[in-house]
Amino acid sequence: MASCSYFLLLFINICLLLGSSYSEDPSFSYEFEVSYITASPLGVPQQVIAINGKFPGPTINVTTNNYVVVNVRNKLDEDLLMHW
Ligand SMILES: *[C@@H]1O[C@H](CO)[C@@H](O)[C@H](O)[C@H]1NC(C)=O
Repeated sequence: MASCSYFLLLFINICLLLGSSYSEDPSFSYEFEVSYITASPLGVPQQVIAINGKFPGPTINVTTNNYVVVNVRNKLDEDLLMHW
């Protein structure tokens, strides 16, 4: 009987954990179009990789437990790896 209550409590706790992580956390969505532009970050015009036509790209302003969705469209003529 004791182990039955234990598993019931465990089940309720898991439900609470799942419920809390899916209900209140805000989500943020970004669209990134990656392309070459000419910019002068060092004072001399040169080709740089830009996001949405800007270099440096946009700030992602989020915090712990936020859901972040970034749709990336690669307009470069080479493969792209994004990391944060
Ligand atoms: C990020 O978002 C928070 C909360 O909305 C805001 O207070 C803060 O000024 C923002 N920071 C930047 C750098 O945009």
